[in-house]
Amino acid sequence: MNDFIDKIENETLRRNLKNLHSTLQERVKVMPASVKYHQNWTGGYRDHVRQVIQKAMELYRLLYIDGLTKVKPLVGFTMDDVILVAYIHDMDKLFRYQKVNQPRDGREWEYAEVPAYDDSAKITQLCAQHGIILGDNHLEALAMHHGGWSANNKRDMSPLAVIIHSADLISTYITNHKGD
Ligand SMILES: [Fe+2]
Ligand SMILES: [Fe+2]
Repeated sequence: MNDFIDKIENETLRRNLKNLHSTLQERVKVMPASVKYHQNWTGGYRDHVRQVIQKAMELYRLLYIDGLTKVKPLVGFTMDDVILVAYIHDMDKLFRYQKVNQPRDGREWEYAEVPAYDDSAKITQLCAQHGIILGDNHLEALAMHHGGWSANNKRDMSPLAVIIHSADLISTYITNHKGD
């Protein structure tokens, strides 16, 4: 994961995110990305998040660096924001599951006694504890990263939210495999 974090240009953000990652990496290594829907194996969280970061970076490059088409301006956003939000987009999942005693139907993980819903507040708190203060743009992308499946009914999505949601869909439905 540090290979992606190293691509962040802003030195302070890079250092803070590395510190945050070092406190989470034991969980990152083992947690699944869900209990049944996608990447539900041990280490599935890591596989999923790496794929989302990779695909989000490629989409950003395609749309905003290669400039193949006219795009809505990504006001105030850089590749750093894309990497940051892709890295944190499912971070609450690191605290949501526990290993089952007897694996059944190929399921190794189940919900722990914690909220089973998206918890942006938990992510915001973890970031703040490591000096990463999320802006409205980051929060909107976090809240809307499931697109039409998101918990609220907001219809509009920022370009950053669309990039993260698209990368999330690709990882969930297309590159839903072990490893990068
Ligand atoms: Fe998610
Ligand atoms: Fe995700």
